[in-house]
Amino acid sequence: MVAPPPGHGKPGRPRGEVSTPSQEDYLEVICRLVEAKGYARVSDIADALQISQPSVSKMIRRLNQDGLLEVERYRGFTLTAKGREQGGLLVRRHSILERFLKNLGMTDRAVVWRDVEGIEHFVSPVTLARLQALNGFIEAHPDWWQRFLAACPMVEEGAHPVEDAPQAP
Ligand code: FE2
Repeated sequence: MVAPPPGHGKPGRPRGEVSTPSQEDYLEVICRLVEAKGYARVSDIADALQISQPSVSKMIRRLNQDGLLEVERYRGFTLTAKGREQGGLLVRRHSILERFLKNLGMTDRAVVWRDVEGIEHFVSPVTLARLQALNGFIEAHPDWWQRFLAACPMVEEGAHPVEDAPQAP
């Protein structure tokens, strides 16, 4: 289970766009909290998503109506079987993308987290499955992959994504 780096900011949005966390962001965070300590509380979620507790409470009602949450009287809440299943898929999707970015040689945790939180809402299941297969292939053939990494040094953060990127020979 990977925790967000400190000060990662609001997840899931491209930089510069003002938006609120989606239902998926909530479910993913709740799933991580429940896995880590057995339950989630409104204040934990507000901290993790860096939003106000009233906003969290509103979404909690919605997730509860959708049959994803189980409210526990004194401890906050946990996930129903349906919530665990859906949340588990979101956490797995996040970790496939995170593994892929790390395989690409990205080491800045905050950048990796921000990128994954943006990409995960848009990636199709087909692309995700291919990336998962690629992760497995890269990890099974490190020599091959090291040749790619050596041929493609990392560009500086803020560089133009296409023009400044080195091309593999
Ligand atoms: Fe995520």
